[in-house]
Amino acid sequence: MTFFQIFSIDDFYQFEEQIFQLDKACFSDGVWDLDQWSKLFKHYHLNILVAQHKEKPVGFIVFSNIDKEVEILKIGVEKTSRNLSIGQQLIEKMIELLKKKKTRVIFLEVRSDNQSAVKLYSKCFFELVSRRKNYYRNPDCDALIYRLEI
Ligand SMILES: CC(C)(COP(=O)(O)OP(=O)(O)OC[C@H]1O[C@@H](n2cnc3c(N)ncnc32)[C@H](O)[C@@H]1OP(=O)(O)O)[C@@H](O)C(=O)NCCC(=O)NCCS
Repeated sequence: MTFFQIFSIDDFYQFEEQIFQLDKACFSDGVWDLDQWSKLFKHYHLNILVAQHKEKPVGFIVFSNIDKEVEILKIGVEKTSRNLSIGQQLIEKMIELLKKKKTRVIFLEVRSDNQSAVKLYSKCFFELVSRRKNYYRNPDCDALIYRLEI
């Protein structure tokens, strides 16, 4: 597995097509368009870490890095590559990179019915810190807030 990072909208343009394809391959809804990516890069110090296998992008993690705090906004692994620990490797690689910076804590929010994501965050030692009852609709479910100190 190899990894590369995208730090700015200018970098993003270079890999635009690959990111769109990857986003579509990972999420049945909630795929972001160029306008959304641009706004996120502008306002949230966005980072994208992409995992590649044999030079093909297979997964990505998107996180915002503001001072000492990081929020994971999205993590996805394409369907045919799931349950091979690529999600775990993405999180571990992100942590390795963040440890070289000022980051001390990572947050994320996830649907309580997303079993594979909940499993992934638990095995990466994230701690459940809060639950927002019925935060999500269609189908209704809670939002879980996880936190990891690094
Ligand atoms: C969540 C996601 C990124 C995980 O990626 P991944 O590469 O499969 O992750 P890993 O292989 O490291 O770990 C997944 C774990 O979930 C487990 N799992 C998978 N399906 C599961 C299910 N239905 N119930 C319980 N556990 C499940 C796997 O067994 C594995 O745990 P293990 O290593 O102890 O066996 C991937 O499933 C995905 O892209 N999902 C769609 C996008 C998404 O929902 N993203 C999260 C919110 S932004």
